[in-house]
Amino acid sequence: MATNITWDQSNVSRGEREKLLGQKGLTIWFTGLSASGKSTIASALEKYLLTMNISSYRLDGDNIRFGLNKDLGFGQKDREENIRRIAEVAKLFADSTTIALTSFISPYKSDREIARKLHEDSGIPFVEVYIDAPLEVAEQRDPKGLYKKAKAGEIKDFTGISAPYEAPPSPEIHIHTDKTTVEESVKVIL
Ligand code: PPS
Repeated sequence: MATNITWDQSNVSRGEREKLLGQKGLTIWFTGLSASGKSTIASALEKYLLTMNISSYRLDGDNIRFGLNKDLGFGQKDREENIRRIAEVAKLFADSTTIALTSFISPYKSDREIARKLHEDSGIPFVEVYIDAPLEVAEQRDPKGLYKKAKAGEIKDFTGISAPYEAPPSPEIHIHTDKTTVEESVKVIL
C-alpha cells in the first residue's frame, strides 16, 4: 500500500450523477468454464442494453489479458490478482453509472466473494451469473482448441482439466447453456 495518499472526494455524489445521467450502475459478474458461453451472452446483453440506450461495457478475460493484465498468467495467485483488478475496474465503471459486464472464468469462490464485497461495501449492486455448461459440453465446443491442447499436456493449469473451477453455491442467476439459447439467457438476465 502506498503511503502519503489522500482520498479525493468528487464534487458529484453517485446519487447526483445517477440523476443527471438518468441511469444507475451495477456490475453483472459472469463466471463459468472456458467455452461455457460467458463472452457470447455478455456480448449479446451488452448489445441489447446499448440498443435500449443504456450505457453498458463488457470487460472480457481474453481481451483484458492483452493490455491491463498482460503481466498475469494462470496460476492461482495471478488469477486472484486478475480478478482483484477487474473487480476494481468494474466498480469504477458501475460507479460512473455504466452497467459493467465482466466475463472472466473467475474460478475461485473466494476471489468472487472479494469482488462482491468490494461492490457491496460501496453500495453498488453486484449480480453473479453462473454460466453453467457441463465440462463435457465445453470440451466438445472447444472453439479455440484449448481443451484439446490442455488434455495433450500442452497448456498447464487449464481450468476444468488441470486447474479447479469452484461453482458458485448461490449465484443470483444460474443459466444452463446446454439447455438455453443465447436470446433466452439474455432475457433471463434482463
Ligand atoms: S481467470 O481464471 O478468470 O483468471 O481467466 P480469464 O482471465 O477469464 O481468462 C480465461 C481465458 O484465457 C484463455 N486461457 C485459459 N483459460 C483457462 N485456463 C488456462 N490455463 C488458460 N490459458 C488461456 C481462454 O481463452 C479463456 O477464455 P474463455 O473465454 O473463458 O474461454
